[in-house]
Amino acid sequence: MYLLLYSIYIHNKFLIIQNNFTMGTDKESKTSFFNRSKNESSFIIKSCTDDDLERVKQVNEQELPEDYPFFFYKSILDNYPESFLVACPKDDFNQILGYVMWRVERTSSKNSLRLLNKGHLVSIAVSGDYRRQGIAAALLAKSMPEIQKQNITEYVLEVRVSNYSAINLYENFKFKTEGIKKKYYKDGENAYFMVYKLNEN
Ligand SMILES: CC(C)(COP(=O)(O)OP(=O)(O)OC[C@H]1O[C@@H](n2cnc3c(N)ncnc32)[C@H](O)[C@@H]1OP(=O)(O)O)[C@@H](O)C(=O)NCCC(=O)NCCS
Repeated sequence: MYLLLYSIYIHNKFLIIQNNFTMGTDKESKTSFFNRSKNESSFIIKSCTDDDLERVKQVNEQELPEDYPFFFYKSILDNYPESFLVACPKDDFNQILGYVMWRVERTSSKNSLRLLNKGHLVSIAVSGDYRRQGIAAALLAKSMPEIQKQNITEYVLEVRVSNYSAINLYENFKFKTEGIKKKYYKDGENAYFMVYKLNEN
């Protein structure tokens, strides 16, 4: 019994060290365990790597109607690696259960010509079988501080008006609906434009 526990500990430790080593700098923020009482430590949140991208794309294609070409994922990873995170089973880093990716957009502020950085949630999805285990919440909780480091003044996102689960999730993270983008999606559905302003805390 003691031997088994020790082996698992060493095994996990090895995987973490190996992953940090591959990714380079800033070890602490690159890979971390997220424990939640609902499903204690059954998954980990880690930085996405080039090797993960094809599986991230597969999760996206299964879970969302919006598909992106491979180079799009690659460019987000190249430009915003710190906030491109994936969830994997604790014992299988080759399986992707969910992902989140952000980018920074520079736009003029409402009241002046000043340009501001906004953290735009590009996409988040969790595979159907693994939902309601806190994976999306963990992905957001870990990625938002990372994109915030890019001097953003607010987080922004679009969500289908019918996507009750995602709207609930974002409201839990202090997002508020600021408006509706008519026929935002290819199939004609409207989007809520949701914003979380950082200076309003
Ligand atoms: C939205 C989505 C990412 C949530 O993933 P998840 O891992 O199941 O979410 P979590 O378990 O972390 O849940 C966090 C919160 O989201 C909300 N939520 C998630 N699923 C929900 C559901 N089916 N009904 C109502 N609220 C839900 C809840 O507020 C939940 O908190 P709670 O469990 O304390 O009530 C997932 O349903 C998904 O991948 N959907 C398809 C892709 C998608 O719509 N992406 C968003 C595009 S804008």
